[in-house]
Amino acid sequence: MPNAYISGTGFHVPPRVVTNEDLRSQYGIDTTHEWILQRTGIESRRFADEGVGSADLALPASEAAIANAGLRKEDLDMIIFATLSPEHCFPGSGVYLQHKLGLCDGPDAKFVPALDVRNQCSGFLYGLATATSMVKSGASRHVLVVGAETHSAALDLTTRGRNVASLFGDGAGAVVVSATDEDRGVRAWRLGADGRFADTLSQRVWDIKKRPFITQDANGVGQVSPEMMWARMDGKLVFKNAVERMMRVLMEVCLAESISGQDIDLFVFHQANLRINQYLQQHLGIPDDKVVHNIQRYGNTTAATIPILLAEAVESGKLRRGMKVACVAFGSGFTWGAALIDW
Ligand code: ACO
Repeated sequence: MPNAYISGTGFHVPPRVVTNEDLRSQYGIDTTHEWILQRTGIESRRFADEGVGSADLALPASEAAIANAGLRKEDLDMIIFATLSPEHCFPGSGVYLQHKLGLCDGPDAKFVPALDVRNQCSGFLYGLATATSMVKSGASRHVLVVGAETHSAALDLTTRGRNVASLFGDGAGAVVVSATDEDRGVRAWRLGADGRFADTLSQRVWDIKKRPFITQDANGVGQVSPEMMWARMDGKLVFKNAVERMMRVLMEVCLAESISGQDIDLFVFHQANLRINQYLQQHLGIPDDKVVHNIQRYGNTTAATIPILLAEAVESGKLRRGMKVACVAFGSGFTWGAALIDW
């Protein structure tokens, strides 16, 4: 059975920087830089321009990951796309990315499967676990796993929505998971979910149980109420569960490999709130030089946080061959996951 390792990483964030102060001065939100910084660690985020979707952000991230793996796009056997902000209700973003990559064009067109993952902040780790299993089973040799989000279009950027809108940003990260006979790669992963909290952090938009599923006015134009249109979140409950679940799933994955936290060289935590990660770091006694963050610059990019962090750490030389990496995430669902990787 081959091992599954990360052969290439890449990321892309849109160029427009939106600071906390911009949320106040440009969008008119009643907030302050200090409020957001103190509670979340966020200083700025990136917002994509109108006309740009998650597959657009994913394209340069994917191209970089494929190039850094020393591969051509035709070498891919599968695409896994994790996002909570797909272009449309259906189809998912995976097929749009496949087309944008040019995989469907010309005499060498390669109609690889494109799988969409709907696990919010844990989406990338759900995708990584799936890719690892596909590679280890021998079904695929090179799987592209992408996390990409265009949150800015679907945030209530008013004072009413400030508790959610101030947290999120746009961006994309990608990795290629490849087969190898070398003694390296994804060693263990654990995933979990607790559907009792499905409505605690959700954006419903419509209710498929209703007829019609979106209310229409006299002219047949869909009407979506603010409660349905925008995300709702019980922030304190999310915070409490995030800390508990991330700690537990990290321990589970370490136990699976019979290692302790001290054996890990780099911790790559999902970037929902710097305070959540600082709490974990303190409780687990992790030194600062073993942790990477980017929430200060990008906010919460949901499925993209971990692959962006991996790509940035590789680029800066912080993540090198031979290191042991732990990735941990928690998010809406609730869902969570962890993976241990020998880089
Ligand atoms: N600026 C100013 N004031 C604000 C803002 C803001 N951006 N947002 C909320 N407030 C106000 C609230 O309206 C409230 O005012 P009130 O007391 O007059 O009603 C007050 O600040 C306190 O609000 P809380 O929501 O109780 O603030 P809290 O201390 O819980 O912090 C926060 C909120 C930062 C969201 C925190 O709960 C948190 O980070 N939780 C985790 C959330 C998270 O990680 N979410 C992403 C999950 S990832 C995913 O799966 C998508």
